Amino acid sequence: YRVICIVGARPNFMKIAPIMRALEANDRFEATLVHTGQHYDKAMKESFFEQLGIPEPDVDLGVGSGSHAVQTANIMTAFEPVMDRVNPHLVLVVGDVNSTIACALVAVKKGINVIHVESGLRSGDRAMPEEINRILTDQLSDLLFTTERSAEGNLTAEGIAAEKVHFVGNVMIDTLLYNLPRAIEPAQTFKQHLETDHASSLAQTFGLLTLHRPSNVDDPIVLERLLNTLVSISNELPLVFPVHPRTKAKIEQGGFDKLLSDANIHMLPPMGYLEMLGLMDRASVVLTDSGGIQEETTALGTPCLTLRENTERPITVDEGTNTIVGTDPEAIRAAFNTVMLGTAKGSSRPEYWDGKAAERIVEITEGWCRQQFTQESS
Ligand code: UD1
Repeated sequence: YRVICIVGARPNFMKIAPIMRALEANDRFEATLVHTGQHYDKAMKESFFEQLGIPEPDVDLGVGSGSHAVQTANIMTAFEPVMDRVNPHLVLVVGDVNSTIACALVAVKKGINVIHVESGLRSGDRAMPEEINRILTDQLSDLLFTTERSAEGNLTAEGIAAEKVHFVGNVMIDTLLYNLPRAIEPAQTFKQHLETDHASSLAQTFGLLTLHRPSNVDDPIVLERLLNTLVSISNELPLVFPVHPRTKAKIEQGGFDKLLSDANIHMLPPMGYLEMLGLMDRASVVLTDSGGIQEETTALGTPCLTLRENTERPITVDEGTNTIVGTDPEAIRAAFNTVMLGTAKGSSRPEYWDGKAAERIVEITEGWCRQQFTQESS
């Protein structure tokens, strides 16, 4: 069976790596990897391919940045001829970025079956671009693989047949468990990237910060309030802050560089996967608005404070280390104090977050293809 696998943005790379491995180990499948080029910086792309051992993409659509409409449309236009050339049985998309919905839409309109990995997650917040991508991609998909049991209820509530949905666990955690032994020690990362004599003492005790959601960084008033709170936290715990390109631009536009450099906040370029894994594992606390990091900290047992009003990954709160704190300064301080006092809740690793999700996906997909394509040809 010919299957095209799509990646576009940074969080897709960690998800596709174990799927490509599992597809390649199964001789029923012939996989073509298409990179849309949504993320293109070396720090946002190449280091992930290298570190995660993802094969070079067979095709790079090279679409780059743009407004949502422009980016989505450019991906669709560039992907269509690739579909015509490869003539796949299946298109497999992961996650919730613009590349996910764009390629799913092209495939389904050509009558080609779509597989969505990480389906059924819902924040309930339609102002979030990813929420729209999730809802639409799930509606278009023929096979839907979920990371937590709550996802199936979200899907059936939207009219999706339960037979299409399979709970398989989390491919992001496949990648984490596979790579954990190779995680890079924070001391090494700090020595390489920071001009501080304190790299080794910083490596003993630090908090990790990431921010990139448009709702947190695009409005300078919201961003400044958030940064002020983080500056005050950094008086108690030094923070390291790998800065996403979107956030970097907003910090520069808002003139917030000095606010940060005067504080105990150490800005880093976007980190590679193995560097990030070391930082998440060793941090006293992680403050983030990322989706994937909520899951990774749960798997690692590191306390996570999510700087958003909601999460599409409720299992990280119910069973994991995650607390949804929002962006109110008082709430962030209070949650931070709870962690520092050592009174944060305990956690356990969620069901099927065991490193074998990609194998389950490929096994179920093979059975499904056997049924689907024999029926069609008979
Ligand atoms: C995208 C995803 C988001 C995901 C995030 C992870 C969508 C709607 N959003 O957001 O879900 O959490 O990736 O990083 O798909 N830029 C660069 N270099 C790059 C890529 C981007 O400088 O390699 C800058 C550009 O100024 C660009 C901006 O970042 O305009 C935003 O990039 P974009 O791909 O539109 O969305 P992200 O914010 O990265």
